[in-house]
Amino acid sequence: MNSDRLFIFDTTLRDGEQSPGASMTKDEKVRIAKQLERLRVDVIEAGFAAASPGDFEAVRAVAESVKDSTVCSLARATTHDIDAAGKAIAPAARKRIHTFIATSPIHMEKKLRMNPDQVVEAAIAAVRHALTFTPDVEFSAEDAVRSDIDFLVRIFGEVIKAGATTINVPDTVGYSVPGQWGDRMRQLIERTPGADKVIWSTHCHNDLGMAVANSLSAVLQGARQVECTINGLGERAGNASLEEIVMAVKTRRDVFACDSNIDTSQIVPSSRLVSQITGYPVQPNKAVVGANAFAHESGIHQDGVLKHRETYEIMRAEDVGWSANRIVLGKLSGRNAFRQRLEELGIAPASEQALNEAFSRFKELADRKSEIFDEDLQAIVSGEASVSAERFKLISMSQSSEMGEKPISKVVFSIGGDEVRVEAQGNGPVDATVKAIEKEAKSGAELLLFSVNAITTGTESQGEVTMRLQKSGRVVNGVGADPDIVVASALAYLNALNRLATEPKANPQQP
Ligand code: KIV
Ligand code: ZN
Repeated sequence: MNSDRLFIFDTTLRDGEQSPGASMTKDEKVRIAKQLERLRVDVIEAGFAAASPGDFEAVRAVAESVKDSTVCSLARATTHDIDAAGKAIAPAARKRIHTFIATSPIHMEKKLRMNPDQVVEAAIAAVRHALTFTPDVEFSAEDAVRSDIDFLVRIFGEVIKAGATTINVPDTVGYSVPGQWGDRMRQLIERTPGADKVIWSTHCHNDLGMAVANSLSAVLQGARQVECTINGLGERAGNASLEEIVMAVKTRRDVFACDSNIDTSQIVPSSRLVSQITGYPVQPNKAVVGANAFAHESGIHQDGVLKHRETYEIMRAEDVGWSANRIVLGKLSGRNAFRQRLEELGIAPASEQALNEAFSRFKELADRKSEIFDEDLQAIVSGEASVSAERFKLISMSQSSEMGEKPISKVVFSIGGDEVRVEAQGNGPVDATVKAIEKEAKSGAELLLFSVNAITTGTESQGEVTMRLQKSGRVVNGVGADPDIVVASALAYLNALNRLATEPKANPQQP
């Protein structure tokens, strides 16, 4: 099945969610899934349904709301996992089960404690069982990079015979190099019985910074599905980045002889949304979606681009959605216009009350900021989603600072509905605010990261703050946005505390 169509399998909601602190709520997952649908990804891996009732509900909610992309759930090669996956994706218009088992000697022996024959049997049984829920079944050999190639040929041949329709070859630990990875894909396609009946897929991690190069090398050798994530989010150093894969094959069609169905103008909005929800900022020099990706600093480059853009640009910024930052609403916009724009962005507030709360926050913001962009609306709704029905909620705050003096912050917030008033001094206004909150919250969590980014351009922009906290080995990211970055910091800190108060998610690769 070596066509000129490259299928894009997005795993931001599953492997992306395995990044420390990137855990997402059901509503956040649905918002990202709706954006991925607008981006026109072929498959959305919505999660690992068997992990917990919360994960099951999130996969199901994505299956209910997405119509155009295939919705997929990951499942270990067990009846229990596959039952959960099958039930969670049932409402989807197009559905896939992605089942996997490890095939490397180290994983089989040390992690699974199974011999190779048992692994093959489990894989066949898993594929057969998955087929009772959907004809679209993907099989992955976890740690294929360190697996014996003869064993891979054997297990892939067996699962194809059992009815698998996509075969995924993962570099789980990011160990491969491009020449080797392409060669492995070529040999597997040449040697596996029934290889021509399935789509071959590649799934690469970025531990040595080669996830995109390895994936593209596999594409050159016949892979026609790439598993990737927005902004390269993912376990450890991340997964292959969707935007880089898509733009590489589009820009170098002469080399790859295939193309995806992605609406590239939705790339930057997708990148922003994922960054905003997960609290993972995008590095400025990141290819395609970094703030500097199309900025020309040197005089020679600027002069060249002004005379003829293609002197220094191989892609057009507007083709990947950089023209965004469109003014969408202002101070005089009414509730209906607000609701309609949220609908266009795929945001459905949970209730009339949630809509009203978001609308009053929008009005407050519009009083302080003359132009409201889509990014501002996303931030408003993220704020609403994270504070409603949660344990810690900011009520008001004030702070005073003078050059040469230690600032003082006064914060009023609620803990489980009870109002508390606290005050503290700190090295700076953010330090004072966090110290004040901790006086009553007493989380004892360690702050691993504090970052501030402007959501849009200009000094009027809302500041978006990420606070990454660690407690008892668990890492969470809190996000908050406000034109006042100290308020944004308080919101981010409280958001992180709320996340620490929720149940941790299970990782499918750690049985
Ligand atoms: O990296 C990996 O091997 C995975 C599999 C579950 C596909 O994420
Ligand atoms: Zn992975």
